[in-house]
Amino acid sequence: MFDLSSVDLLDAFTRELTMCRVRPGEHVVVLSEPASRGDYVAAAFGAAKACGAHVISATVPGGSPAPIPSTHTGAGPGLTSVLTDTTAQDLLKSADLVVDLTQEGFIHAPVQQEILRAGTRIVFVCDAPDVLIRNLPQDGDKDRCLQAADLLKRSADMRVTSRAGTDLSVRLEGSRPEFQCGYADDPGRWDHWPSTMVLCWPEISNGRIVLAEGDILLPFKEYVREPVTLEVRDGHIEDVTGGAEAKLLTTFFEDADDQWARSLSHMGWGLMRGADWFATALYGKGDLMGMDARAFAGNFLWSTGPHPVLGRESYAHLDIAMRGCTVSVDGTETVTDGVLADR
Ligand SMILES: [Fe+2]
Repeated sequence: MFDLSSVDLLDAFTRELTMCRVRPGEHVVVLSEPASRGDYVAAAFGAAKACGAHVISATVPGGSPAPIPSTHTGAGPGLTSVLTDTTAQDLLKSADLVVDLTQEGFIHAPVQQEILRAGTRIVFVCDAPDVLIRNLPQDGDKDRCLQAADLLKRSADMRVTSRAGTDLSVRLEGSRPEFQCGYADDPGRWDHWPSTMVLCWPEISNGRIVLAEGDILLPFKEYVREPVTLEVRDGHIEDVTGGAEAKLLTTFFEDADDQWARSLSHMGWGLMRGADWFATALYGKGDLMGMDARAFAGNFLWSTGPHPVLGRESYAHLDIAMRGCTVSVDGTETVTDGVLADR
């Protein structure tokens, strides 16, 4: 029996590494753990070779130091085996590009910042094959992200409203706007394939968030079925009321035993035009990280827990993707009733 799935993926990974500007003679490290997809390791390895780069495949032991199960949350601390092994860290720092095929990545680990400061670029990949291919980054995606991030940088306030009853005012000062565009092309850049979104890290937000049917709760990968109302004061969730999902969120906040569990984290809006809102319904939970949900064009994505700008370390991370919101930044509508204004 032959396993040819990696061959099917080779074109997509080669396109991705080309977008990451992998050049002949560069050094690519394909980082994996035993639970990583073997076909992704092979495809990334072959793609690096196709780009003329040197390539090393490094598989390190799995295992996370997170106090709560964190598989595919996007908030894990990374692998203990990398966090505790300076030889593994040195290998990653010496690479031009790391293709991170681990289950959780190292998104919130200080070690990742150290690796990026060495000039290494990192692209994290953890979604199903056709999700990757459907959302392959396109020329122009980065420009759209940069424009949105620039708007946030020069603005003072963001307001989010919805017919369901959301009315949230957000102070943008000091909120360090940033973006994900699906590829890591500049030295020291981390990015995520697939993704196209803009986000910021506000400290102060006030008002009410009303989740409506069909909004998506991550990492649970579940649709909201009954409206949930969250009262927000000074960036903190004071009260949660509503149906079954309200109970689920309340239990998560309590069980997390984490001082930042009810504090708001990043927020922004999705720009990924190829994303499929239905993906959450169509795949097994273990097959997805859930970037279709996190980045679909015109969503309002907000989160709880970790906040690097304010120095809050937390693994109690929820990402919540809402439909039908209107997002205005200093009076400019970037999303109207869930539809991107530039569409
Ligand atoms: Fe997040």
